Amino acid sequence: MKLSTEIERKIDTLLAQMTLAEKIGQLAQYTNGAELTGPEGEPVDLNRLARDGAVGSVLNYTGVADTKKIQDIAVNESRLGIPLMFGYDVIHGYKTGFPIPLAQAASWNMELIEKSEQIAAREASAAGVNWAFTPMLDIARDPRWGRVIEGAGEDTYLGSRIATARVRGLQGDNPAAKDRVLACAKHYVGYGAAQAGRDYFTCDLTERTLREVYLPPFQAAVTAGVGSIMPAFNEIDGVPMTANKTLIKDVLIDEFGFNGCLVSDWTAVHELVAHGVAANDKEAATLAINAGVDIDMCSGSYSKYLAELVAEGAVEEAVIDDSVRRVLRSKFALNLFELPHKNTDLELERRVVEAPEHFEFSRQLARECIVLLKNQNALLPLAKDITSIAVVGPFADSKQDACGAWRAQTDSNKAVTVLAGVRAAVGNNTVVTYAAGCSAEHKDLSELATAVQAVEQSDIAIVVLGEFADSSGEAACLTDLNFSGGQGELIRAVHATGKPVVLVVQSGRPFTIAWEVENIPAIIQAWHLGSRAGNAVADVLFGDFNPCGKLPMTMPRSIGQVPIFYNCKNTGRPFDADNKYCSKYLDSPNTPLYPFGFGLSYSRFDYSNLRLSSPEMAIDDIITVSVDVTNNSSRTGKEVVQLYIHDLVASITRPVMELKGFQKIELTASEWKTIVFEISATMLEFYGADMQKIVEAGEFTVFLGGSSQECLQTNFILK
Ligand code: GLC
Repeated sequence: MKLSTEIERKIDTLLAQMTLAEKIGQLAQYTNGAELTGPEGEPVDLNRLARDGAVGSVLNYTGVADTKKIQDIAVNESRLGIPLMFGYDVIHGYKTGFPIPLAQAASWNMELIEKSEQIAAREASAAGVNWAFTPMLDIARDPRWGRVIEGAGEDTYLGSRIATARVRGLQGDNPAAKDRVLACAKHYVGYGAAQAGRDYFTCDLTERTLREVYLPPFQAAVTAGVGSIMPAFNEIDGVPMTANKTLIKDVLIDEFGFNGCLVSDWTAVHELVAHGVAANDKEAATLAINAGVDIDMCSGSYSKYLAELVAEGAVEEAVIDDSVRRVLRSKFALNLFELPHKNTDLELERRVVEAPEHFEFSRQLARECIVLLKNQNALLPLAKDITSIAVVGPFADSKQDACGAWRAQTDSNKAVTVLAGVRAAVGNNTVVTYAAGCSAEHKDLSELATAVQAVEQSDIAIVVLGEFADSSGEAACLTDLNFSGGQGELIRAVHATGKPVVLVVQSGRPFTIAWEVENIPAIIQAWHLGSRAGNAVADVLFGDFNPCGKLPMTMPRSIGQVPIFYNCKNTGRPFDADNKYCSKYLDSPNTPLYPFGFGLSYSRFDYSNLRLSSPEMAIDDIITVSVDVTNNSSRTGKEVVQLYIHDLVASITRPVMELKGFQKIELTASEWKTIVFEISATMLEFYGADMQKIVEAGEFTVFLGGSSQECLQTNFILK
């Protein structure tokens, strides 16, 4: 965050006026109970706490009517009139529902991702919210973990680029602007590395993995000026993040230069007791405040014990002052002392929230998130004058599930389902028949025959399978990534009719669809795409939009392969079909079903003429790598040209390849372009044996292509 000596002086002046109780009040955050995103606690009288200056920020207040009322109490009735921050989980849109973040990552479109956050901030601020608990920056390599939906997938470079785009979209140049909010990068750090893909579970990471995979998106957010950060629930190497002084004070604050405030996750201070590092809430409060966690979300431990702890000398008041300073700095950054309300105009709220252009944008973004996985014999796009279509599946007409988890204020009743999208896309003469076909909850196949009959009476079947919105997200992990309930039976029965089948996978994460890939001619990964999901899917299915999404996460063949990710190590015994003694399974290939970066188009993009400006580079040089990309089709299309690099020999083993750049381009029919990337030594850095960043001379391979597994490659030498 930008600092100013004038603001720091104002903070000093205010601090000097505050009693210890008032300081502690700034470090307390409570929910109004409107939404439950964690274990339910004791209800509190927030109006009284605001009047007493005993709360500094509140959670889940939405709407000008509610935020104005309690802010007026805090500002006009408390002794010092310190305004509140209003936090809310605006994860993929405030009320206009956007695609889940993992789907957005599949767009590889930083401009659209930034714009989605700008609109989310515009709606949230119009509703009185001034603090969004987003972006979620947890790199995740395990689709069993339900929270993969909230992040950018498995790659650090892509995740770091998206971190920057999201912070910029939410805060703009100034979070105090009327239509911007304070962002909150979360969950710091390593949360996505939970063992067994089980939420809140133990993370055991080496410092090198932490620094090379999980920390960079947070550093990118700090560089982008993020105003707040939320430590994660998990422990790393035996130290829970909510008590992790090293990673908070030494790394985040001192090394990265983070100067905003840190808010604990929901009751995470109290949960230090369950972690086993605190015997009680009083000890938990001591650990967390001394680690640099400024605000205690919903546990009440700070409110109850900090005054006592200062009196006993267990916590120095100077530590409290540091935290209060960071909280006040965020409030000054939001200009709350001058303008405590983001908005007080109910008419403005009505006009801005769910503005028609926001829904149109949601459709535009959703289109770019769809990944075309298979299109045998160019079954897609479908003709709009097709005589009859059967749309089947338990998620074909489910509004809420199309919106995904963490849907904030999204009115799912306004969501467009795949069925509605198909109906809106085809001509009046096309007969569209719908049948749920099965339950996604249990093996109830009583409707299967009806669905099969609908398919048999139609020219083609569009089958929508996937998972419930709330089967993903927080506390929603799975040990089985096959379609639930009777969905497997449904797709097989539809396949058995012999009719052409298009599978639409409406899930928050990669599912194991090996049978479907083997037997179904056309498949799209349609995620949970938000308020205009059905329109975006129909736009792709009927060719109004040429799909361009690329997988941000590897799709495994089976759960047995997990965790599986593209930038793995080669090992001393890499796979060798002719050698028994190599790294492999007896019952499965090592390769995934679909690799990171994969996604088809209705166009065919051919790569040729890969060349370097020089086969050698000195440490201070910049060389370029170029490739010609040709759209060998009759249809304009977008392609994500991906740049990967591999360090062949180094003092520390290096991944077989790492994403180091990408360009999303559009080519008209038969058009070709030369795409150029610069290569600099900083792209070749890694952490050496002493954990210092280094670059070593030697040979590198550079890959360019439309997927991590389909690239042209050449080598260069760093002298
Ligand atoms: C939840 C989530 C966090 C969210 C917070 C407030 O437990 O972990 O992402 O911001 O609580 O809802």
